[in-house]
Amino acid sequence: MAYTHQKIKPFSRPRTDSDVQFRNGPLLSVDAAPETNRRPQRTQMVSHLIAEIDLNAIARNIGILRSYLSAGCRFCVAVKANAYGHGMEVVLPVLEAERVDMLAVATVTEARQARELGWQLPILLMGTELSIYQGALKRDVAEWLVRNNVCITMLAIDDLHAIEEAAKAVEMPAKVHLKLDTGLSRMGVDESQLLELIERIEACPNVLIDGLYTHFASADERGCAFAGGQLQRFEKFVGVLRSRSTKTPTLHAANSAAVVNLPGSHYDMVRPGIGVYGYQTTPSELQRIDLSPVMRVVSSVMLVKRVPEGSDVGYGRSFRTKRESILGVVPIGYADGLDRRLSNAGFVTVKGIPAPIVGKISMDQTIIDLTEIANQTTITAGCHAVIMDNNPNSPNSVESMARHLDTIPYEIVTSISPRVVRLARRRHAMGEKDLTNSFLQSS
Ligand SMILES: Cc1ncc(COP(=O)(O)O)c(C=O)c1O
Repeated sequence: MAYTHQKIKPFSRPRTDSDVQFRNGPLLSVDAAPETNRRPQRTQMVSHLIAEIDLNAIARNIGILRSYLSAGCRFCVAVKANAYGHGMEVVLPVLEAERVDMLAVATVTEARQARELGWQLPILLMGTELSIYQGALKRDVAEWLVRNNVCITMLAIDDLHAIEEAAKAVEMPAKVHLKLDTGLSRMGVDESQLLELIERIEACPNVLIDGLYTHFASADERGCAFAGGQLQRFEKFVGVLRSRSTKTPTLHAANSAAVVNLPGSHYDMVRPGIGVYGYQTTPSELQRIDLSPVMRVVSSVMLVKRVPEGSDVGYGRSFRTKRESILGVVPIGYADGLDRRLSNAGFVTVKGIPAPIVGKISMDQTIIDLTEIANQTTITAGCHAVIMDNNPNSPNSVESMARHLDTIPYEIVTSISPRVVRLARRRHAMGEKDLTNSFLQSS
């Protein structure tokens, strides 16, 4: 069988979808252009490695999570770590369209990115990064946060001084959220420290306690016994707060798992992350809910070759062919976030059929065994390859990979590197526009 190497036309212009808009215009510089043979402009983006982000799936997942909530419960979505690897710039427009009330970020840089992308509603800064900075830098960061209506998780008196000064300087009230550590022993402080902080804040007219929250260690555990204990501790502190003041701040506790498993934790607002991106909130197979994975990483086979039986494959020669074999090379490696521990263990789907990864995954390339698939159909360079499938049952779904690697879907999706272009995909009433398809084909 002859295998030809399809020549890649570099910098040819992909067609695109104009619906990927966010306030200031299209998100990606792959604007629609007439199909001509014009020389490409330097600013054009071309990629052979794409993370398709299904905007309809995000909207659907939000709807499913909201169905667990009482009317009026606000919805704050965790978009830290580049929206769990999905691309903040791709995800924010759909969160806005779905009337999400707030974003939760881990870092000041993430808050800044969200503001630069045009997000106008409140943002919760969950990390107490301000505590790291000193002097003028601390003041500058605090001023930026207050001026940009970022609710600051505040757990230290030192930070209170900086925030108060910032509020005076920018002539706007500063909003802080306090976090009670009810058992995770991570971010948050205990009741006595929090009460001391509250007394100090009450003496600062420019600083408003906008929220009080906690975070669960294991709301995904069957029975939620530990999370139930955390909730009781939080509830008790809320009682103390209510007895001190007539105005209770926004109370929030629930991550995705608690949205589903702990209705008593919903309070005024929930803070899901992983469920919005379509991954199960609870590992148990018995408690699966109908969420749709949002990300699919696709590429193309770059080279197809026939090798004799007994050929060593990849660095370290960890695989040797047991027969004459058809191998394919796909342009993704561990530098793109394909975990090297999937060497000789994971799969890439070609023409809907899983092809085993053979040999060690290298930095930019992965070798797959196409022998079985080539017996059924013609495989040439340029054939699409699904690296990470959005079908949860595929052997290369995020959940399958996580299971194999003894980790969690969070780690798999947040490991996808910036080299992988995030591309929004939206289904229209007219039928789905296969944006990625045209993007890959034209490259
Ligand atoms: C404080 C806090 N709230 C909410 C979330 C969202 O959690 P999940 O992605 O499990 O829904 C996270 C994520 O780890 C978090 O750290």
